[in-house]
Amino acid sequence: MRFAVIADVHGNHLALEVVLADIRAQGINNIVNLGDCFSGPLTAGETADILLALDAVTVRGNHDRYLIEQLPEKMHISDSAAHAELSGHHLEWLHTLPFSTIYMDEVYLCHATPKDDNVYWLEAVAPEGHIYLKPIEEIEALAAGIDLPLILCGHSHIPRAVRLRDGRLIVNPGSVGCPAYDDDLPHCHKVEAGHPFASYAVLEKVEGMWLPTFRQVAYDHQAMAALAARAGRSEWASALATGWLR
Ligand SMILES: [Fe+2]
Repeated sequence: MRFAVIADVHGNHLALEVVLADIRAQGINNIVNLGDCFSGPLTAGETADILLALDAVTVRGNHDRYLIEQLPEKMHISDSAAHAELSGHHLEWLHTLPFSTIYMDEVYLCHATPKDDNVYWLEAVAPEGHIYLKPIEEIEALAAGIDLPLILCGHSHIPRAVRLRDGRLIVNPGSVGCPAYDDDLPHCHKVEAGHPFASYAVLEKVEGMWLPTFRQVAYDHQAMAALAARAGRSEWASALATGWLR
């Protein structure tokens, strides 16, 4: 049993295209998507056309929710930029997405945590902005009641696997389209992949155990960096060009 997991595409259709090609080149036909599909100053409309046609099992990210809950004039600029590129049927598709779901009877999917789409499951942020792996007790507490061997989450854009002490595995595949960003919740912090590649993961069940393979794929990231720069989004341009915020 093998499938691919993508997350945090953030409206980067060039990154999405190479990831989907990389998945297909491995003979993998099953894909799940952990949300934050469109928000950002890039190509939300083209990304939406690809994702709607892909018809993968998808859960809603916090930014997907903002796109259908908030008035465009009240949105953060990354959400309003995407909203301006999206058509009615793209937004209707966002309305259909569940907060969480169960895939193949044994994989739990959510964007961030089972109760909140804007909290990191695996990472904690110190008051001065340092981001680090949460203590196992806190990670396990968030998994209470999820009696499934594999749990998938996105949101932090940090590829990571954490095995709980009872054997359950939590995997974050990293971000397809946004390798670095800053945020002010719960404290001001930066997440930086340190490279510009598109990230995703393959999950395979081997002798009854789920194992992740993390993949990074090169694409024309400079084209997307140039697009962000033309939109006046220098931090996005830096992230896409280098994987760092400078
Ligand atoms: Fe995200």
